[in-house]
Amino acid sequence: MPTTVPLTYEKREEKTIYFTSLLTHMKILVATEKPFAKKAVEGIRQIVEEAGHELLLLEKYTEKAELLAAVADVDALIIRSDKVTAEVIEAARNLKIVVRAGAGYDNVDLEAASARKIVVMNTPGQNSNAVAELALAMMIYMARNRFTPGTGSEIQGKTLAIHAYGNVGRLVGKKGKAMGMKVIAYDPFITDAALFENDGVEQVSSVEELYAKADFLSLHIPATPATKGSIGYEKLMSMPKGATLVNTARKEVIDEEGIKQAMQEREDLKYITDIAPANAAEMEELFGKRFFATPKKQGAETAEANINAGLAAALQIVDFFATGNTRFQVNKW
Ligand code: 3PG
Repeated sequence: MPTTVPLTYEKREEKTIYFTSLLTHMKILVATEKPFAKKAVEGIRQIVEEAGHELLLLEKYTEKAELLAAVADVDALIIRSDKVTAEVIEAARNLKIVVRAGAGYDNVDLEAASARKIVVMNTPGQNSNAVAELALAMMIYMARNRFTPGTGSEIQGKTLAIHAYGNVGRLVGKKGKAMGMKVIAYDPFITDAALFENDGVEQVSSVEELYAKADFLSLHIPATPATKGSIGYEKLMSMPKGATLVNTARKEVIDEEGIKQAMQEREDLKYITDIAPANAAEMEELFGKRFFATPKKQGAETAEANINAGLAAALQIVDFFATGNTRFQVNKW
């Protein structure tokens, strides 16, 4: 049973088990350089205030200094792709929990957070549908020559290859099947073959096979030290004639120069990415209709995804303060 005596943060030596008391009147900051839809913020406020906490907002900030100042005395932080570096963690002296409203948490310095026993969570699955819809839209956009005059092609009957079969990858597969595509997938971390079978998706045995069979390759790998720069020249060159690489994952997983070189050598290859690579201007000039990059990440930019992920983040924080629930924690110490 929770006691009425607050347990101070400093006394928590381990996650959850020492969390026997209710933490009330916490300051929860939503820090979003790319703000949530208004409805999402209203929902977050309601959840936070009904639980007896205070909501603070820092939206559309442009300077790191603004974030450093805003986190100074907050207990919890809700972010999107905002960078929570060691410096931010250092500046946030009361911080107990960071929730990344979204899937990828490569923008949070987990080591620095863990060193201070700050819980870091994500909200898996909450914005997946938005990203999956964008991936399909990107395939059609490229198949129709970026909506410029001339004959395009259809995605029906083509092979859709999914690299990493998590929440987004699975939804992309489902939507691809509905569009009449043949769906294959590869995920080294999924050992249960039944998962693919039940979805009617062919599980290929290697990443090489995946790329070699892909008319459309939809990327869903996270950005980690192991995956950074891992998709480049060789993978693109191994794809069939007329293939398209669709990246709604992270730009960091791409070897930009490698992709450029492959597209120079093969005039049939296409690349579309949700967030511009460093060499976007050069790619546009070199490849015209064969390349497209969104100027700002669009994947989760729907009102529905903002509401799903934003409210989930608020609920997770409120629950954490009330019960110590760390179900979606992604760091450890
Ligand atoms: C994610 O990892 O959830 C997506 O990339 C969404 O990122 P965003 O919240 O910055 O739009």
